[in-house]
Amino acid sequence: MNWRRLARALPVLLLAYLPATRAFYLPGVAPHDYRQGERVDLWVNPITPKIDGHGNHLRSVIPYHYYLDHFHFCQPAGGPESKSASLGAILSGDRLYSSPFNLSMMRNATCEVLCKTDAIPKEDAAFIADRIREHYAYNWLIDGLPAAHVKLDEQTHESFYSVGFALGDTVLPSQTDNEAAKEKQLAKLHNHYTIRIQYHTQDSVNYRVVGVLVQPSSKQTVLDKEGKANCNVEEALVLDETADHPGIVYTYDVQWEESDIPWGTRWDSYLHVFDPNIHWFSLINSAVIVLLLTGMVAMILLRALHKDIARYNVDEEQEDIQEDFGWKLVHGDVFRTPPHAMLLSALVGNGTQLLCMACVTLVFAVLGFLSPSNRGALVTMIVTFYMLFGCVAGYVSARLYKMFGGEEWRKSILVTAFLFPGAVFAVYFFVNFFLIGARSSDAVPIGTLAALFALWFLVSTPLTFVPDQSIYLRPFPAMLMGGVLPFGAIFIELYFIMNSIWYHKIYYVFGFLFLVFVLLAFTCSQVTILICYFHLCA
Ligand SMILES: *[C@@H]1O[C@H](CO)[C@@H](O)[C@H](O)[C@H]1NC(C)=O
Ligand SMILES: *[C@@H]1O[C@H](CO)[C@@H](O)[C@H](O)[C@H]1NC(C)=O
Repeated sequence: MNWRRLARALPVLLLAYLPATRAFYLPGVAPHDYRQGERVDLWVNPITPKIDGHGNHLRSVIPYHYYLDHFHFCQPAGGPESKSASLGAILSGDRLYSSPFNLSMMRNATCEVLCKTDAIPKEDAAFIADRIREHYAYNWLIDGLPAAHVKLDEQTHESFYSVGFALGDTVLPSQTDNEAAKEKQLAKLHNHYTIRIQYHTQDSVNYRVVGVLVQPSSKQTVLDKEGKANCNVEEALVLDETADHPGIVYTYDVQWEESDIPWGTRWDSYLHVFDPNIHWFSLINSAVIVLLLTGMVAMILLRALHKDIARYNVDEEQEDIQEDFGWKLVHGDVFRTPPHAMLLSALVGNGTQLLCMACVTLVFAVLGFLSPSNRGALVTMIVTFYMLFGCVAGYVSARLYKMFGGEEWRKSILVTAFLFPGAVFAVYFFVNFFLIGARSSDAVPIGTLAALFALWFLVSTPLTFVPDQSIYLRPFPAMLMGGVLPFGAIFIELYFIMNSIWYHKIYYVFGFLFLVFVLLAFTCSQVTILICYFHLCA
């Protein structure tokens, strides 16, 4: 199926939006000019799992602190210093620390020794090997740019920079008598890094960093008596998980390459939109759902109104005493106070808050204010706007509650303030509790949790319902029904956002996201009309 062809065939309307879907950003930080030989800092971020694009599914979602004791990575003299980061950056997982790399502008280096670690106990070797088998990756930052590796988009044959680079690689064991060991892939640790830094000559004395690529490799390096290393070894450093390791030698090469990419566009090669067709597909998917729902709403309204009008006409001819029926009955019901007026007004208030936050954030994002250099800008913006729109939530829920004739308005405002954030925090702490546990021991895999949750949600809960109403009118199925359609409209784009949150990828198709968001809003309103109608009918 070629979605691109389909997308091209779409009317001018959609094509008119195309400019909005291109990656576009305003630089978020001022450029740093370096003199020749000036020190360039390399910051390290947590080790995170990555999908390497070859259909490998993700085996873990837990990031690990770079200087976690188990890794035994080289530390700078005097211990690592932490770099302050914005709230959004911290929430999205940034924990930046200094590193012992000695990089200077335009100074090439070969086989520099980073350090030789202390002896590594076999438990820690096994820990590192497990992380390698789970495709963990290094995340470094140089002058605000993530260290990347070059990847080829197999569909478009364009090369692009993929953020992060592998912690190690796996090899199949050559020969072993041990049956159990045969099943387990051996892990090669990447302990030699070839750091290629692209610089742009600003003027005769100032240079700027415009690209960082790292080619890691695994080498069985040893130090000679003077503490020098020989990096021309072929043999890879395969981690032995059955014995303590005397100590790993970490080495690096630095190559500075002149580049004609100006500083202003240095992010372009990072912001590769992988398979844009899938975003078109997502858009079309949402549009189809909206069309379907519109059709349904229109049909129901037409049929109901048609019947009602016909009956009113008959009544008028017979000049009977008019009794309200059909849609005339509805007007009394629509504004009747529902059983849980407080809960409803709290939820509506919170919904308005989220809606305002999403609208404003998306407008800023589409206008290009979320520069990727400004790490965590998206999350910071979301949190800030969410806080600011708290007043909207209070106002809307108070208005609604008053309209329902509620008396306990203080309680109502408290509920509005604590209900949704409370739920979010509860989930956050619950998940965090597992993450803290994962630092030292095994974590419950997310898949297991999801399966348990699904079992409870989809099997046990429906069984507790007594079948006294037609199925879609009971509260729980109605909730499911009300949620499934909007979810169906947005799930593809949602997948990419979640991907960028969990796997630290850069999300940069806000244009598409904005369109899908508009369609989502339509879907939600139509689902609301339909569900209200069915409930009122009942
Ligand atoms: C970094 O490298 C330069 C050039 O070789 C050297 O002069 C300097 O002492 C090194 N700095 C550290 C902290 O090792
Ligand atoms: C550094 O190495 C790169 C790649 O090997 C080379 O192109 C460049 O000219 C070197 N720069 C200096 C200052 O030696």
